[in-house]
Amino acid sequence: MLNILVLDDEKVFRDEITEFLENDNFKVFSAEKPSEAFSILEINEIDVMILDLRLPEMDGIQVLQKVRQAWPDIEVIMITGHGDMDAVIQAMRNGAVEFFPKPFRLLDMKAAIQRTKRFINLNHRLKEIKQSYNFLSKELRENVGYEIIGNSNAIRQVVDLMSRVAKADSTSVLITGESGTGKELVARGIHFLSNRNSAYFHAVNCSAIPDTLFESEFFGHKKGSFTGATEDKEGWFEIAHGGTLFLDEVVEIQPNMQSKLLRVLEERKIRRIGAANDIPVDVRIIAATNQNIKKFLEEGKLRNDLYFRLNSFEINIPPLRERREDIPELLNYYVKILSTKLNRKVKGFEASLIRRLQSYDFPGNVRELRNMVERAIILSDNETLTIKDFAFMGISDMEELFLPEPELEIFDLDEIEKRVILKALERSGYKKTEAAQLLNITRQALDRRLEKYDIDV
Ligand SMILES: Nc1ncnc2c1ncn2[C@@H]1O[C@H](COP(=O)(O)OP(=O)(O)OP(=O)(O)O)[C@@H](O)[C@H]1O
Ligand SMILES: [Mg+2]
Repeated sequence: MLNILVLDDEKVFRDEITEFLENDNFKVFSAEKPSEAFSILEINEIDVMILDLRLPEMDGIQVLQKVRQAWPDIEVIMITGHGDMDAVIQAMRNGAVEFFPKPFRLLDMKAAIQRTKRFINLNHRLKEIKQSYNFLSKELRENVGYEIIGNSNAIRQVVDLMSRVAKADSTSVLITGESGTGKELVARGIHFLSNRNSAYFHAVNCSAIPDTLFESEFFGHKKGSFTGATEDKEGWFEIAHGGTLFLDEVVEIQPNMQSKLLRVLEERKIRRIGAANDIPVDVRIIAATNQNIKKFLEEGKLRNDLYFRLNSFEINIPPLRERREDIPELLNYYVKILSTKLNRKVKGFEASLIRRLQSYDFPGNVRELRNMVERAIILSDNETLTIKDFAFMGISDMEELFLPEPELEIFDLDEIEKRVILKALERSGYKKTEAAQLLNITRQALDRRLEKYDIDV
């Protein structure tokens, strides 16, 4: 059984459609004004919303934007005026699944609802999966005090591996992934989820250590053991004793130093420079790199034995462009926390911004997204971020797709939509994923329309 909400100011229409759909084993809620609809949405699990464009209080597109943002699982069917192409384009950009010009046949509406049903069932399943995953992220939130954002399979798998290896107390971990994908974030997560979390997590950037200081930094020294050693000094292994030592850019360590490091990992003790005795150390090593390890191995820059020691457990974090479904949540997260941190009045963002950002490749991954949002928030004078605030990254140029053919005046909304889709397909060489990106709609939304218009690709 599906819960349907009808928002339309015309009572006759509401009554008619309610009666028709209720006969069909749908539960129908109806509202005259947006405010009324929002109160219904707050307390009921609505699956499909039938939304009129012309409404009191605010227009249908604004309602659509708000619904997509606050209740993204709801499928919205828009009722538009006849020949109102602008509205269709707006509605499509904002994620409506179907459009009906008034008057329409109630039977057609029912068919449209049936079509969305498949996707709704899928959404329900997804929600169940998410709930079990959220349990993990709650554990993280409470223990770590920060969040790992994202619900893609890739991120869920990373979180799963994280929490498993966290319990394996001294297993070394190797984290790989492009720059800005969250390697250090994951390393901290492992530390905080482990029994080592009351001792230090000590992060070291290996590319920044001069060779001459390597031993003294890692192992410490006795006062007077070399020129400049004016005090006894404890090394990083001692600092991280009982905790975790994070070796960032581990491939940058010089090979002769790598063997010294390996020895410590094997013998679990260090000796400060100039000291007479060994000191036992209990440290978990988490190493990371954004470089191509295979290449470093082949060129002999990374010792095989160290590599085998470190990679007993590898976690790879895929780049953001391979998990674009994490972008909305990350965007939401950064808008919220950065606006507060920067003390700006930005409160949210335009729904269509999501799709625009999802079509961008983010070579700098999450860090780039974060910096981009930070910059947009600083530059924006409004409460709502729009694509204009991101103009510096040069996403745009899809408007052209939506221009009507000059010599034709079409009044059939379906016909217009179909043509736009065909054009996008043509433009993208009939690659569906690319066409969907061009249209700024999801791949599923495109599939639905291909089915509706009987277009074979
Ligand atoms: N899934 C995520 N959720 C929230 N924040 C994230 C996520 N992934 C990355 N970040 C944030 O992105 C920024 C970059 O992450 P991090 O420093 O861990 O990347 P890195 O992989 O170590 O990059 P590099 O290779 O350049 O050192 C940080 O501010 C981090 O908090
Ligand atoms: Mg890093």
